[in-house]
Amino acid sequence: MLEVLGLQVRYGSITAVRDCNLTASAGTITAILGANGAGKSSLMKAISGLAPTSAGMVRVDGTDVTRMSTHERARFGISHAMEGRRLFHRMSVEENLKLAWDFRNRGGVFSQALDQVFARFPILAERRASQAGLMSGGQQQMLILSAALIHKPRYLLLDEPSLGLAPVIVQQIFSVIEEVRREQGTTVILCEQVAALALSVAQQGYVLRRGEVVQSGPAAQLAADPALSAAYLGA
Ligand SMILES: Nc1ncnc2c1ncn2[C@@H]1O[C@H](COP(=O)(O)OP(=O)(O)O)[C@@H](O)[C@H]1O
Ligand SMILES: [Mg+2]
Repeated sequence: MLEVLGLQVRYGSITAVRDCNLTASAGTITAILGANGAGKSSLMKAISGLAPTSAGMVRVDGTDVTRMSTHERARFGISHAMEGRRLFHRMSVEENLKLAWDFRNRGGVFSQALDQVFARFPILAERRASQAGLMSGGQQQMLILSAALIHKPRYLLLDEPSLGLAPVIVQQIFSVIEEVRREQGTTVILCEQVAALALSVAQQGYVLRRGEVVQSGPAAQLAADPALSAAYLGA
């Protein structure tokens, strides 16, 4: 279980997240919804240690990880696939995966992990020697997801995985996310501006507006709520 308690994220005078409380139960998918600028990425970054926490706590399986570095949190089992296709664009598919593998060196055999990636996304096997930056947006998103999954994390944070992708690729990405949850028991926290999409795979959801949680509940309940879209008007 991952808990966010009274979390605040500030950048100088800007408060991006305020008094945020959230619980992601083990083995479930949690959707974080909200318009552009609502604070979704800041919340995700605070969970993985990439953004400063000025108040509150992130607790993972009962352990307070708020003062741990990103690296320590990665070793703890938290993996973060950031928004905007953060890849090493000049490196190949395989080199990108190797870097992700080395970031959290826990032993194990890289070639086996690579085989698992390629079994899931055969197109990445075909493109293993291609420069990451020259691939299509969909293939880059598959690579990002694969890099985040390469250590079979217990917690997977995904920042707008559908952004800019064709519907058929979005479908493929989301079915892999569901498969990972089902087969590996991974706890997923997923943020999206496309509410219907995220709620179709999630068990529970939270709606952020100007850094605050304005609505939360079971995904089915949020999906059926006509007032939900109103919460999106203005960030
Ligand atoms: N590194 C930063 N420095 C200053 N302000 C930032 C930074 N990152 C985000 N912000 C601000 O914090 C707010 C929330 O941004 P963000 O977390 O990126 O929202 P979202 O992911 O929902 O679009 C916005 O007002 C944004 O301009
Ligand atoms: Mg964002």
